[in-house]
Amino acid sequence: ARKIIIDTDPGQDDAVAILLAVASPEIDLLGLTIVAGNVPLARTADNGRKVLELAGRSDVPVFAGCEKPMAKDLVTAEHVHGKTGLDGIALPAPVMPLQAQHGVDFIIQTLRAEPAGTVTLVPIGPLTNIATAFERAPDIKERVQEIVLMGGAYFEVGNITPAAEFNIYVDPEAADIVFKSGAKITVMPLDVTHKALVTADVVDRFAQMGTPVGAVVASWINFSERFDLKKYGSKGAPLHDPATIAYLIDPTLYEGRHINVEIEVHSPLTRGMTVADWWGVTDRAANALFIGTVDATRFFDLLITRIGRL
Ligand code: BDR
Ligand code: CA
Repeated sequence: ARKIIIDTDPGQDDAVAILLAVASPEIDLLGLTIVAGNVPLARTADNGRKVLELAGRSDVPVFAGCEKPMAKDLVTAEHVHGKTGLDGIALPAPVMPLQAQHGVDFIIQTLRAEPAGTVTLVPIGPLTNIATAFERAPDIKERVQEIVLMGGAYFEVGNITPAAEFNIYVDPEAADIVFKSGAKITVMPLDVTHKALVTADVVDRFAQMGTPVGAVVASWINFSERFDLKKYGSKGAPLHDPATIAYLIDPTLYEGRHINVEIEVHSPLTRGMTVADWWGVTDRAANALFIGTVDATRFFDLLITRIGRL
């Protein structure tokens, strides 16, 4: 199984990604490192543990990481995820402890302890923890097997500003460090998450599982749905973060291009923009596989089959 660390700011869609990972034998989840993003760190750290306990996986260690971005103040997204970050059916307060070790130290220690090229990082929140680890321990960059992250946008542009996607916008300095790291990077941008929209029938399939997990997931995606439908008036709401785990399980669901991606950090107007050279108009070297399409039917079938096992 593929050894991964999920770096996350749960968030309903983060929570579904975590559930997909623990439900899948192809994935060996070494731990969750928590970052501030959708809501402040205290809440994301609670939410990560609530989700693991819901799945009966309190054996997976959870590490609190950075509570604010590298350079600027934290921007949160309660308007999307609710006050708790995980609005929907309320889950009990977590019983499992947070680990004493800082999330950044766990990332560094794990990459040094495991054989080089065997640990994949899956960031589905702002990139603060990953970039901080790379700054503090540059030797780990070449030990990473792959970084499969949710963030950025090119054709679908921004969801927090007209130019920027939320995860990159919250900490562009961190994203810049990660994209310049030389590690193998696969990006799940809005371009792909907006091509797998959760329709009412998907919500029903979760509700009809007849399991506690199915009921909770239905309530989460119903909650996000209300925001997105009102805002975008589309056929359904995107469920961003599980794309990373689905890609690791079955990369044939996705197609993309190896291109150069640079992060705008200076311009107040376009800060956090992922400047993706999709058409190859520069001679800047490719640094990422930027995913553009997904087989949405097979994606939802995978998600529902796997989560149905929990
Ligand atoms: C990303 O922003 C967060 O609100 C979601 O959890 C996802 O990681 C989408 O732009
Ligand atoms: Ca997220």
